[in-house]
Amino acid sequence: MQKRQLGKSDLHITPIGFGAWAIGGSGWAYAWGHQDDQQSIHSIHRALDLGINWIDTAAVYGLGHSEEVVASALQGRSNRPYLFTKCSLVWDAKGQVHNELSPDSIRRECEASLRRLKVDAIDLYQVHWPLAEDSLEGIEAGWTAMAELQRQGKVRWIGVSNFNSKQMALAQRIAPITSLQPPYSLIHRDIEADILPFCERNNIGVIGYSPMASGLLTGSMTRERVAAFPQDDWRRRSSDFQEPNLSRHLALVDRLREIGARHGRSPAEVAIAWTLRLPAVTAAIVGARSAEQVQGFIGAMDFRLSPTEQKEIEDFLRQ
Ligand SMILES: NC(=O)c1ccc[n+]([C@@H]2O[C@H](COP(=O)([O-])OP(=O)(O)OC[C@H]3O[C@@H](n4cnc5c(N)ncnc54)[C@H](OP(=O)(O)O)[C@@H]3O)[C@@H](O)[C@H]2O)c1
Repeated sequence: MQKRQLGKSDLHITPIGFGAWAIGGSGWAYAWGHQDDQQSIHSIHRALDLGINWIDTAAVYGLGHSEEVVASALQGRSNRPYLFTKCSLVWDAKGQVHNELSPDSIRRECEASLRRLKVDAIDLYQVHWPLAEDSLEGIEAGWTAMAELQRQGKVRWIGVSNFNSKQMALAQRIAPITSLQPPYSLIHRDIEADILPFCERNNIGVIGYSPMASGLLTGSMTRERVAAFPQDDWRRRSSDFQEPNLSRHLALVDRLREIGARHGRSPAEVAIAWTLRLPAVTAAIVGARSAEQVQGFIGAMDFRLSPTEQKEIEDFLRQ
């Protein structure tokens, strides 16, 4: 299995990591509807059995529940994958989430994640979100606390998520950033202009999230399914799943299906492979809610698009 070094770290990761947002389950503002824990555990087992060697979760996913499910799935398994988690989104007694970068809060969050994940050290600890888009507020203090956790050995490597280049440049002056976790898919490619070149110049690894646009590009999404999303599926509120965007995205899926069919690959696999075509992108974080779903995209581990196929997709996107 081909593995790539994440930034300057000693983490050598598979091209796909298991994304554990949806398996956080229901009961909070960014749930994906009901999720059965046993199914989540099966999906993690299938991912690891098929060679995936890292899991990306976050404290906030299911307000701690995703980290607990990940720990349950790993209990008794001999070969533990790398565990990546995130801080900075905290919740109160009513489950209301807010963003917090103060050193005390980050230290508290780290202890709670170590406890829930049942490990002595987190392999990659990431700041989930800056306090606001374009804001530098809190970054110096927060990143200094992250570097301190690394020195103490509670976390092995430190990274950021949803940061822009200015925010990363500020953090880099305090301690090196191992990786950035940005959104990256056929329908969200803003990072190509400035953020990817910044990461490449600074040898910051990039693990792109939502490569199938949160299920939209898998081939299983239909207008009927979208209309029937449960009340507590956050995708009901996403403009990606609403017209006029929805029709355009479903037409894109038809094109991905055509290309995939030539190789016996699913639209999901084509969508993921597209995000992995650039050397600046180290790997993709892919979410799954069942073992069957893992099976449906695992082929993207070693499937790459030809230049002609990449152009075919670009031509469609330009229409
Ligand atoms: N740092 C951040 O701010 C941030 C933000 C978003 C995501 N992430 C990370 O990135 C990971 C991946 O992103 P994501 O989960 O948002 O989106 P994604 O990987 O693009 O899509 C995952 C969803 O697609 C559907 N799916 C998966 N495999 C399928 C298959 N074979 N056939 C049909 N449908 C399939 C499932 O939802 P349904 O079955 O319900 O359709 C699944 O939850 C997350 O789990 C998280 O770790 C990070």
